[in-house]
Amino acid sequence: SAHRIDVVSIFPGFFDVLEVSLLGRARVAGLLDVRVHDLRDWTTDRHRTVDDTPYGGGAGMVMKAEPWAQAIDAIAEDAASEPVIIFPSPAGERFTQATARELSEEPHLVFACGRYEGIDERVYTHAASRGRVRAISLGDYVLNGGEVAAMAMIEAVGRLIPGVVGNPASLVEESHEDGLLEYPSYTKPAVWRGLEVPPVLLSGNHGAIAAWRREQQVQRTRERRPDLLPD
Ligand code: ADE
Repeated sequence: SAHRIDVVSIFPGFFDVLEVSLLGRARVAGLLDVRVHDLRDWTTDRHRTVDDTPYGGGAGMVMKAEPWAQAIDAIAEDAASEPVIIFPSPAGERFTQATARELSEEPHLVFACGRYEGIDERVYTHAASRGRVRAISLGDYVLNGGEVAAMAMIEAVGRLIPGVVGNPASLVEESHEDGLLEYPSYTKPAVWRGLEVPPVLLSGNHGAIAAWRREQQVQRTRERRPDLLPD
């Protein structure tokens, strides 16, 4: 059955692009069931208020607990199993390909997109009674809200769901799947504007090609991402 992803945001229109491209096709094919919700639908006041000033003072606003609790309750009560509830946050654990793989094995994900100043901390406690909570960061930089981060995570997770990417072999030979960056790729013509394709790739020697690619992966990783290599 379809993997379900609920997204809660004050900018639901941001996720309209999920209709197109690979993930759009996966939705049409019944592999992905993505439901985007407006957090303000769970407010009750005339101004549809979702934030307020922080206790203790400080800059920025904090998202109020009640609309989030109502949203999480409604989604959890409508679900067949306990979801994984993800709060995109620069204060979360780092998102990696391993995280994407883990999440792709979950039948139901909820992305709770807050603004970066934060959500009332009690929302996390409440969410933990409705699902398995994870605060996840895309990287060590600050975005204005969780939406762009959620979109990146949805794409990384979605393409690992069986059937979403047409050729599963294309998933195994890419950056980060084996802990190294991917090797360089070339296509025709063999000489283009005076630049040649490495001759080994035209040799037909599959052993030599595999060895060259592995060497390129290690060299590239040493140059660009030494942090990925063991000391
Ligand atoms: N929200 C704001 N910044 C973020 C980040 N770096 N990762 C995930 N969510 C965020």
